[in-house]
Amino acid sequence: MVSYKELGLVNSREIFKKAIMGRYAVPAFNFNNMEQLQAIVQACVEEGSPVILQVSSGARKYANQTLLRYMAQGAVEYAKELGKNIPIVLHLDHGDTFELCKSCVEYGFSSVMIDGSHHSYNENVELTRKVVEYAHQYDVTVEGELGVLAGIEDDVVAEHHTYTQPEEVEDFVSRTGVDSLAISIGTSHGANKFKPAQCTRDENGMLVPPPLRFDILEEVERRIPGFPIVLHGASSVPQKYVEIINSNGGKLKDAIGIPEEQLRRAAQSSVCKINIDSDGRLAMTAAIRQTLSEHPEWFDPRQYLGPAREQLKALYKHKVVSVLGSAGKA
Ligand code: G3H
Ligand code: 13P
Ligand code: ZN
Repeated sequence: MVSYKELGLVNSREIFKKAIMGRYAVPAFNFNNMEQLQAIVQACVEEGSPVILQVSSGARKYANQTLLRYMAQGAVEYAKELGKNIPIVLHLDHGDTFELCKSCVEYGFSSVMIDGSHHSYNENVELTRKVVEYAHQYDVTVEGELGVLAGIEDDVVAEHHTYTQPEEVEDFVSRTGVDSLAISIGTSHGANKFKPAQCTRDENGMLVPPPLRFDILEEVERRIPGFPIVLHGASSVPQKYVEIINSNGGKLKDAIGIPEEQLRRAAQSSVCKINIDSDGRLAMTAAIRQTLSEHPEWFDPRQYLGPAREQLKALYKHKVVSVLGSAGKA
């Protein structure tokens, strides 16, 4: 058993408190490899933002749990070396069993999500409460979820979303003891969040997706004032990356995300954690495809992973400065 405190990590309690008071959101960026981690740490150190390093169970399988622990510890040391001791959380994304959450606590995670949203309400409460009871013994914070997001949640694929029912939140929070709550207000996972038929067009002919359900968010806030809310599925799917990918051999169809304006609005509410994974995947893939088509003779991975890392870093800086508002809050 290793405590996250020995690794120099923090749990999410204080940073969420500050984010709600300061009307911004902390970025939760997923990572699976070194270049992603370097880009996240460089961007957040340079912009002085707290950060949540997010690991899915798929990432844990891909990268190896022991390696991940040392990578997170490395991220703390790397941030210091870059000149700033920013708060860094290591968080399990979409944990689906008690055993997985327990194992992450034992491997040095400072925060875990137990996603019981695919179970019945009472089963979700039971499972979440069990994880909270275990995790809190080690001062590890826990995120629960109410409502189902459409799209891919690790091994779980949900065809349809179910909005969070605000009537359930007080009971869920008090019975489980969770530290934060992910809600479903119209975001979804992946790069295809909406079908073109669901969208309207603006004056430039660009597709405009249906707005998020801010009415649900406001009702949740009214019922549990000041409680930390989490938004999953919050990638914006920048069309510049989709175009670069598709003009360099890629085939992405109907890739549509959440407009940044809506995320800016959410970040000023009690939403204090915004999850972004797909945008990073798109930025990285765009840079790799473009570099390899411009330099078909290159075969050293550093030649294409280097530009991909730069592109990712630019994306993360943009998010913390212009969307989440977390720059300078570390
Ligand atoms: O919500 C899911 C995250 O984007 C993680 O995706 O399970 O493919 O690592 P993954
Ligand atoms: P995106 O697919 O919109 O980036 O969402 C990521 C996420 O919610 C990870 O939990
Ligand atoms: Zn998610």
